[in-house]
Amino acid sequence: MLNIAVKAARQAGKLLLRYTGQLGNLTVETKGRNDFVTAADRDAEYVIIKTIRAAYPNHAILAEESGLHAGNEYEWIIDPLDGTTNFVHGYPQFAVSIALRRRGQLDQAVVYDPLRDEIFTASRGGGAHLNDRRLRVSQSNSLSSSLLGTGFPFKSMEYLETWISTFRALLPRTHGVRRAGSAALDLAHVASGRLDGFWEIGLGAWDIAAGSLLVTEAGGIVSDFAGGQAFLASGNVIAGNPRIHSEITHLIGPLLPPELHC
Ligand code: IPD
Ligand code: CA
Ligand code: CA
Repeated sequence: MLNIAVKAARQAGKLLLRYTGQLGNLTVETKGRNDFVTAADRDAEYVIIKTIRAAYPNHAILAEESGLHAGNEYEWIIDPLDGTTNFVHGYPQFAVSIALRRRGQLDQAVVYDPLRDEIFTASRGGGAHLNDRRLRVSQSNSLSSSLLGTGFPFKSMEYLETWISTFRALLPRTHGVRRAGSAALDLAHVASGRLDGFWEIGLGAWDIAAGSLLVTEAGGIVSDFAGGQAFLASGNVIAGNPRIHSEITHLIGPLLPPELHC
């Protein structure tokens, strides 16, 4: 199943790269405030679903652009282009994200960065890899020596002030904070130790399903804002090596309104 996911991710990545050469001709549609979709998103999603369905016609699919396709207890969670805003601006940071969930557990994960030709993979219990190299989260044992990733609110501004308060609490304690624009890659970079931790409010399941398995299989921790495992449903995510995850969780917990304790 991981091989099929890798094949689908590579095909989608190749297609996205072709689109980067003709961005001027790309029509950008607006799904909502600052929420865009292009033919690149749709074509990449079509290619991924076609490849998965050819191998596993009975599996269910949850894909960002086409929604839920009913099937059996195997469910593929797909973000064909994570980082659409970057993509439409020609900013070189985006990825394909594919995960397989079965009976509530993530089993397989692929995040593909076509610009760097980096393929991050994980299988439950089998570790995480970047191309053929085994991944481990960073060894950093304190925020004071950490580099963090985050995502700014950009669709709904409902939690802008909350996010700013978390940023204010974390930034001065770190080496720095990056906002690169692809949550899937942010998590892949936590898994590979390039980032020590990551937090973001209100993501979609497709943004984080694959990346979260990469992090846990690389020895890290992923949780929702209450320290629980409801992050795919709530979209509120804290990830990091165990030490950094715990520091972020304790620092931002008291700043969150009650409805974000999930
Ligand atoms: C977005 C990216 C971004 C995150 C957003 C996501 P999209 O995904 O992951 O980093 O901050 O919340 O929606 O819309 O480009 O697939
Ligand atoms: Ca996304
Ligand atoms: Ca997307």
